[in-house]
Amino acid sequence: MTHKKKINLVATSLLASLILAGCGGNSNSPSNNMTQSDSTPQNSSSIENTVSSTPSTSSLHILPMMSDEDGNSSDAKATYTLTAQKGVDVTIETPNGSWVTPMWRYNNSPLPLVIRANRGDEMTLNFNNQLTSDSTIHWHGFKIPAKEDGGPDFPVKPNESKAYSFKLDQPASPLWFHPHPDMQTGKQVYMGLAGVFLIEDNISKELEQTKQLPSGDRDVVLLVQDRRFAKEKDGVRELQYMTHDMDSDGMLGDVVLVNGSQFPNLEVSTTQYRFRLYNVSNAKNYDFAFDDGREFTVVATDGGLIKNPIKLDHIKMGAAQRVEIIVDFREDSVGDSLKLISRPFEDDDMGMGNMGGMSQDDDMEGRTINGTAVDIMEFKVTKAITDDITIYKTITDKAEISKRLNPALADNAGDEREFVMTMNMGRGTMSFVINGKEFDANRIDEFIDANSTEIWRLTNDSPMAHPFHAHAIQYQIIDRDGVPASGVDLGWKDTFLVQPNETVRIIGRFEPINQGDYMYHCHILEHEDAGMMGYFRVGNTGNIQMP
Ligand code: C2O
Ligand code: CU
Ligand code: CU
Repeated sequence: MTHKKKINLVATSLLASLILAGCGGNSNSPSNNMTQSDSTPQNSSSIENTVSSTPSTSSLHILPMMSDEDGNSSDAKATYTLTAQKGVDVTIETPNGSWVTPMWRYNNSPLPLVIRANRGDEMTLNFNNQLTSDSTIHWHGFKIPAKEDGGPDFPVKPNESKAYSFKLDQPASPLWFHPHPDMQTGKQVYMGLAGVFLIEDNISKELEQTKQLPSGDRDVVLLVQDRRFAKEKDGVRELQYMTHDMDSDGMLGDVVLVNGSQFPNLEVSTTQYRFRLYNVSNAKNYDFAFDDGREFTVVATDGGLIKNPIKLDHIKMGAAQRVEIIVDFREDSVGDSLKLISRPFEDDDMGMGNMGGMSQDDDMEGRTINGTAVDIMEFKVTKAITDDITIYKTITDKAEISKRLNPALADNAGDEREFVMTMNMGRGTMSFVINGKEFDANRIDEFIDANSTEIWRLTNDSPMAHPFHAHAIQYQIIDRDGVPASGVDLGWKDTFLVQPNETVRIIGRFEPINQGDYMYHCHILEHEDAGMMGYFRVGNTGNIQMP
């Protein structure tokens, strides 16, 4: 299949005018277009203004954990079955009442599922496609052979099945899975197909056992996704996908769901909690913070635990990125509450494509803007207990997760691999490309030696931020615009939010297991589906037959 899909932009589209402004086709400067309206405060110091007074009315759903079908969770073998199906009725709870939305889910589960497995486990994942279109399950963030990776080159047809099998051989990390069929990824994820996959290892288990990380019911997955719903008809509100001209720039909704509910609450005790925070939105970026401005401690990024936990008072997350944070309620009293919010973006923050400063208008038809302040969820302190957790200070240098790859020793040092992300404008059309090319299912774009360490230079030459994602392995950031990585950028990652006009250099080591063809792409799924994606081949052979 070729990717000749072009994006229709109406002349009045807000993004179109911004893009044109950025391209000199419009005399208004981007900053004029970004002028802040009174109703959407931008100054991050006025955090009170970012939260609404709507009370939280529903309890946070805890995502269901699947159990190993072989009945033995300690035999280093694990089997799970995931059946994708349409028409699963899901009750969406919001502070303004609830409704039913038919969604696409795995195993008929109203909620996204969680798989938790151990490093070293031999996994068998049986996938049944009961959709009416091709699908796959892509294992996002996994270091596994290309043919098990669930890319679009191994589609599973409707009513067909595939067994994915691979060994988990990478550090404890908050990974996930989702469909990755050609040009349908955005739609299938949006309709509700995505799940959480937690890998545990000896280090993560020891940190839990020695009370250096909260565990059990103080270890909670928070899956954040925005959605847009049609008007109610007989108690049902359908999901809307690509119903607005601007949706092809990145599908944004006006309802932010956490584990399936809008602005839910979690009852907590006066202790420390570990939240595994997943941004699995199609396109939305967040700037997470707490409404009282308190600090939290980041202990993991996409690819695993951070050697030295980092204290922050806010964190930006692009689509597909994950972090694990420790939130401390020890100083709180029973009756207190705390909100997790997403702060409004600053003027030049995240680029004009995020339209941080624009106000909503009627044209938006329920789209929110990236960068609008939003309440994410609430914590209600209901119980006083004595805390027994002392967060670890460092992970031993000997651990794989602690290693820093040395750019000077990269096999392509001095001749770094270049990935330039641009948005091309034609007459009334726009395309999203990497290195000037739209995705071609019959073309390998990059050839990488097996068993090599490479530096990649990710450059964003477009007016909006793009979360660049690459399959196959976990990577480290070397620098951003020449400034050496620090803070959470020191963690292993598979997805990198690259700001307009920014260059992020990353480094990764391809292992013998990585033989074959993998994807790199923007994880704004509408950009990916429109062709902002390519193949890289590790080693000499792969599945893609080039014409
Ligand atoms: Cu999460 Cu190629 O994807
Ligand atoms: Cu992936
Ligand atoms: Cu993009």
